[in-house]
Parts: sequence; C-alpha cells; structure tokens
Amino acid sequence: MKILKKNNYWVLLLMFCISFQVVYSQVKTSKSRQIVSLNKNWKFHLGSANNPSKDFDYSIVRNFTIAGGGGGCIVPEFKDDDWRTVNIPHDWAVELPFEYHKHFDVQSHGYRPVGGFYPDNSIGWYRKHFTVDNTKEGQRFIIRFEGVYRDFKIWVNNNYIGSTFSGYSESSFDITDFIEFSKDNVIVVRVDATQYEGWFYEGAGIYRNVSLEVLSPVHIPEYGVYVSAKVEKAKGVVQAQTSVKNQEGKTTDCSVVSYLINAKGVKVTKSLTEKLTVKNNESAVTIQNFTINKPELWDLESPNLYRLVSLVKKNGITTDSTQTEFGIRTFDYDAEKGFSLNGKSMKVKGMCVHQDHAGVGTAVPDALVYYRIKLLKEMGVNAYRCSHNPPSKSVLEACDKLGMMVLDEIRVIGTGKEYLEQFEKLILRDRNHASIMLWSLGNEETGVQNTDLGRRMAHTLVQRQKELDPSRLSTYGGNNGIKYLGINQEMDVRGFNYHIKELDDYHKEHPKQPIIFSEVSSMVSSRGMYVKDSIKGYLPDYDLNKPRWGQTAEEWWKFTVDRPWLMGGFVWTGFDYRGEPTPFTWPNVNSHFGIMDVCGFPKNTYYYYQSWWTDKDVIKIYPHWNGYKTGEKVNVWCNSNADEVELLLNGKSLGKKAMPRNGHLEWEVVYERGKLEAVGLKNGKTIRTFVETTDKAYQIVLTPDRKIINADGNDVSVINVTVLDNKGREVTNAMNLIQFNLNGDARILGVGNGDPSSHEADKCLDGNWKRSLFNGKCQIILESSEKEGEFVLKASSEGLKNATVTIIQKRDKI
Ligand code: GAL
Repeated sequence: MKILKKNNYWVLLLMFCISFQVVYSQVKTSKSRQIVSLNKNWKFHLGSANNPSKDFDYSIVRNFTIAGGGGGCIVPEFKDDDWRTVNIPHDWAVELPFEYHKHFDVQSHGYRPVGGFYPDNSIGWYRKHFTVDNTKEGQRFIIRFEGVYRDFKIWVNNNYIGSTFSGYSESSFDITDFIEFSKDNVIVVRVDATQYEGWFYEGAGIYRNVSLEVLSPVHIPEYGVYVSAKVEKAKGVVQAQTSVKNQEGKTTDCSVVSYLINAKGVKVTKSLTEKLTVKNNESAVTIQNFTINKPELWDLESPNLYRLVSLVKKNGITTDSTQTEFGIRTFDYDAEKGFSLNGKSMKVKGMCVHQDHAGVGTAVPDALVYYRIKLLKEMGVNAYRCSHNPPSKSVLEACDKLGMMVLDEIRVIGTGKEYLEQFEKLILRDRNHASIMLWSLGNEETGVQNTDLGRRMAHTLVQRQKELDPSRLSTYGGNNGIKYLGINQEMDVRGFNYHIKELDDYHKEHPKQPIIFSEVSSMVSSRGMYVKDSIKGYLPDYDLNKPRWGQTAEEWWKFTVDRPWLMGGFVWTGFDYRGEPTPFTWPNVNSHFGIMDVCGFPKNTYYYYQSWWTDKDVIKIYPHWNGYKTGEKVNVWCNSNADEVELLLNGKSLGKKAMPRNGHLEWEVVYERGKLEAVGLKNGKTIRTFVETTDKAYQIVLTPDRKIINADGNDVSVINVTVLDNKGREVTNAMNLIQFNLNGDARILGVGNGDPSSHEADKCLDGNWKRSLFNGKCQIILESSEKEGEFVLKASSEGLKNATVTIIQKRDKI
C-alpha cells in the first residue's frame, strides 16, 4: 500500500481541487441541472429582538396574514442601499467586540454580546437580489442553506417560504412558484440568534454556503441517491438506490442509467437502463447492483473514491444527472479485538473538533476547512468527531478525500418531530460519505442518559438509523461511566466520555459491547506559554494540566494502547475554540483544550501525538531559550519517537536517555544563554532539533499555505506570520503588533493569533487590519476574488523590516 508522504497532501489537495472542479463544471454545464452559488453580495443589517422600530417593524406589521403581505424590509421594494454588503459564509457574532456580562456562565460562549441580554445584537436580516432569465421557465428552483445560526425564516418576493430551527441542519426550500422571470427577485432572511444550542461559541448568521439548484421537472430529488458498498469475497458489492421525482403535471415514463467511475476517472461498469413510470408529484425508486472485481479500497493512506454518475432520461434526453462519491471499505468493531479498517487492526486516533477558526468565527470557507483537516492529518490523527453537531458538507468532503474517519454527531438527542427530523436529515445527507465510521446520537445528555426515557429515545433513533443506513452502527458520548441502563444499553458501541477509572469494570460487566473513548483528555495548555497566569488566563504549554474529569495525553494514550479491546478515542480537542476558557473565566475568552490553537499553530503536545501516531521522524524540545536568568533551573521536555535522546547545552552533553514508548523525556537544565540541542537516534539514524537564545525581532516573514489559488471568489490563502532576529532565527516569544495592507482584487477575511485571552478584533471592519503576534505568530486569512491576476499582501510593524507576499489567482487552473 502506498504510504502518503508529507508532500503528497499537496498532490491530494490538487487532485481534490481538480476533481471538484470537474464534477462541479459537469453538473453546472449539464442541460438538466444547474447549481449556482448564492454566496456573494447579500445585504445585511442587524435588527432587534425587543425594539420593533430597530427590527424593521417585524413584530408590529402583519407579516403572515395574507399571501404576499409582508411588511418592513420583507417588502421587495424596501431600500437596502445603506445595508452592509456581505458575502456568505458570514458570522456577525465574530464582528462584535468582547464583552463581560455576569449572565455568562463559565462556558461563556466566547463572551461575544449575543443572546437574551443583547437584543440589538441578536437578530440579523439578510436580503439578496437575483434574476432568473425566462429561458428557465418550467424548471424547478430549490434554494439550499447549508447552515444558518439559527432559527431563520425566509421570504421570496414577499411570500413566506418557511423556517429552520436548528443552527446546524441543512435546509432547502422549493421556491419555483415565487420566481419572477427576467425581473428582480428578492430573498429576505431573518435570523434569530438569541437562543443557544450548545455551551460553546456558535456564531450568528448565514455561516455556511447558500446555493440555488435549477432542476428539470423530472429529476433526482434531494438525497435521492443512496449508495451502499461492501466487500464480499474480495469483490466490491455496490448497491445504488436512485429516486426520480416527477413534477411535470402528468404521469411520465423515464429511465435511470448509472455509471461507476474509479478514482482515476475511468469507467468501471455501467448499469442496465431501468425503466420507471412515475405519477405526477410522486417519486419512484430504482435499485441497481454492481460488482467490482479487485476494488480499490478507501483507507487512510489511499482514500480511493468511486463516483456513481446517475442519469435520468426521458425520450432519450437526459433530464437530470448527479454524481455521488463513495468508498468501498470495511469497518469492524470487536468487543475483544477493538477496531479495524479493511481487516487491519488499528486504534482510533481521534480528535473532537468545534467548527470555528481564527479570524472567521464559524463562517469557515471550504478551503479553510480543508486546511484544518490537513493539519490534523499531519499530526497523525485518523478520525474526526464532529462535536457536538452536524458538520458542514465540506468537512465530510475533505475527510473523504484526505483519508480521515468521521464520527458524525447530532446536536441534541430527541424523538419529537424536530429532533427526529434533524437526525434523519443528517443520515440522509451524509450516508454516502466514505469517511463516516459511526453515527453519534448525542453527547452528555445528563437529563436523560440514565433514564428509561433516554433508553426509549435511543431505541427509536437506533432503529431509524438502521432503516436509513443499515451499513453502520451508532454510539453516544456518555459521561456516566459504569452506568449501563438508559441510553448506553441501546448502543452498538459504548462511547465513554472520560471516567477512565470505570472503564475496565464496565468492560468486564459488558464484555460483548465494543468500547471507544468518545471523548477523552481535556488537557489544557496555552501555546508557547511556560508559566501559569491565572489573571490573564494562561497555562504552561506542557502535557500537565487537566480538569478534574480529564487525563493528560500520556495518561489516556498509554491506558489505551495497553488494552487491545479498547477501540481508541477522540481527544478533546484538535483545535482551541471560542468559549469554555476552563479553568479560567473573563478576561480569558477561548478554550485551552486544543492540541493546536485556534489558528492551527501546534502546541507542544502536538509533537507527543505526532511521535506516537505517525512513523515520521519527530523530535521537539521546549521551552524556548529566551528570557530566563543565568543559573535558573528550567524544566526541559522532549517529545520524540527516537530510541534515545541526548541533550546538549552549548555543545556540552547533559546526558543521554532512553525514550520510553508512548512517553516523553525531561531534564532539569541550569540556564545559560546559547543553544540547547537534542540529538536523537532512531533505528540507527540521527535526528536533531534545537532551541536558541535569540536577539529581538528584526524582520517579518509571511508564509502562505498556497501561493496560487482559484479565482472563484471562494478559495482561501492562509498566511502565517512569524518574525526572525537579525541572524535569521525565529523569535518564538515576540509579541509585536503587525499591520496588513492588501493590494489587489481579493478580500481579507480575518486575523488571529491563538492567544486565548486576546480581545483584539478578528475582523477589522474599518479596513485597518492589524494583529499582535502571540508568542511569535499570527495569521491572516485571504479570500480570492473572481478576477484572475495577482494580489500583494504587505505586513509591517514599527521597527521591523516589512514583508510582502504575492498570491496568484487563476481560474479553474488548479
Ligand atoms: C465535556 C463536553 C465537552 C467539553 C469538555 C471540556 O464534558 O462533552 O463539550 O465541555 O467536557 O472538558
């Protein structure tokens, strides 16, 4: 099997972009189906939850009395010229300043002033003008919102269309009857972010993509293709269920033919043409079976994806076509042997992830999602838990393409209409994804997890899951340790959140139930900090501090490798996120749980995991070598997968130590300025690293993740900022303020630095973009425009040598 080397991620990324482009352009140019992004040029204005005049009279005019009878800014002619123009994804909460309120509990939601005490910040209005030319008359028009936080209502041309309650569910609306052809059409959306759904930062607004789908009356409806694939006697056995919906006004005859395409784009096989008769306003389903000899399996190193191309034809003319990616692979959950993928036994080396990122809040563009998952992959992570809510589509696409398994989770357990529909929608939307290993029915439902109500709801959900997706199993993140009765008794796989001391006993009592740490560790650290500061809210960057319920990385991982039956686990968390500043509160605003900070800059424990979760050569020592007094004792840690490591201070050996497996090394070093070097021996090969006393910062360095990006108005370049001293050494404790100027046609989306207590702006809406370094690093995120060409980012700081970087935008070339 081909092992991916570091640089191969670039190749994968390129392949992803190419295949995405190809798929997208085919869908776009198909006569039958067009998907048009509606992300650009929305008008936005805050409303008010308690003042009608600030809320465009929403609560005092009749909006729902007669058809087409809305008032205020719902009326199409409403003048929105003075509203701000924004692009989707958009999160207005991240634009607000931080604010302390005694109402915020320790979890704080990131101390952004949204919620019941901030009525003037909690309602957002969006308006979007669009036109559809009259050649499209007779087609169906579906508007799709991939995620809006939260509780939104939509009108088209003053007609109320519908609403969506959850901030994490995708929703679509058929707006065919409301389109005025070759005229201005206006979509109005009112978003109410007053309530929370979680205890973490959740953002506010239309924070995931919006698109308009144009379909022929005879088409494949939403989630209308379901592909299941398994391996039987070394053959790939694939079943495609395809629905066809008829909205033509009369019964129609049509046919479905499907092709299987392999990862190289080569046609593998084709179905027979299945004839269907579909009554008006009904759907019919056809089932097609395929066998693939010697299937190329999806796995972590070679995430081979097949594509099912489905064509609906009527009188020989294609009326619709879709492309569905899927993978062929086998997940096994064994109560004695643990987890295996395609028969290969392995531990789940997972991370829980909340969706927000530096600079952008929850409005994370697809390319940035991809960047984050690539960072996890480089650390050796093989599984991603969507904690604690349905992910964006791009998370699943990136995990499929990069080879990262997924624990796909709903927000709240429930079997009332709303929550049951959220659950069904999650499965229907996501079940074709190769990466999804398990469904998660929720997290720490302390009100019901030990009750018979919890059991009944879990029973209903598991039954429904098996009907919609018999190929997978379910779990649940229970923080109730040894307890079995309630939700846990219905679970195929028992998910343990923490409670490490009860795990062995639980396993003894339930030897037939496979077990995974659905959540573990919660170790807390602040990147590049080496002393605890309870006032500002910083913790030393060692694998040391943990809350009462948590474990250090080393504790849980050693425990896990010692138990073959234990499937592995999901660390809380891959990245820092806004909110939950445990163990501190204000002025600390972000969490410390991340193995990387909110920008994706590694903290030191990243190298612990990388040492034991990859076969890369890893050697890392810390702290940095600045700012101590000569003679002071410094606790030096080394993370490495070398067999032994020697530490040298200014060339003098401080001793050689054998590296304990799944452990780390420590030395107490008497500080003197200079160079502290670690030299490791790994299978006879020398690997080395050092930290060095530096002078003060002298010059800025800009490092983009990609220098060529797509001129599609959605692509992103993540530019990391560091500083060097006059001898070219990185100054890892520098805190200089950096200013940014952008020259050219692109957009700055946000800035961040990973400081969990920073109150600097993520969004500098006055155009004066700046951010301080936090321990030598900050980040700026740029979004492409639709114009080909170059743009130049300049970074400057008083007393430092400037830096510039040129980014090239090319259309459909990458
Ligand atoms: C867990 C919870 C997470 C997070 C974490 C912090 O109990 O599931 O959402 O709050 O604790 O340690």
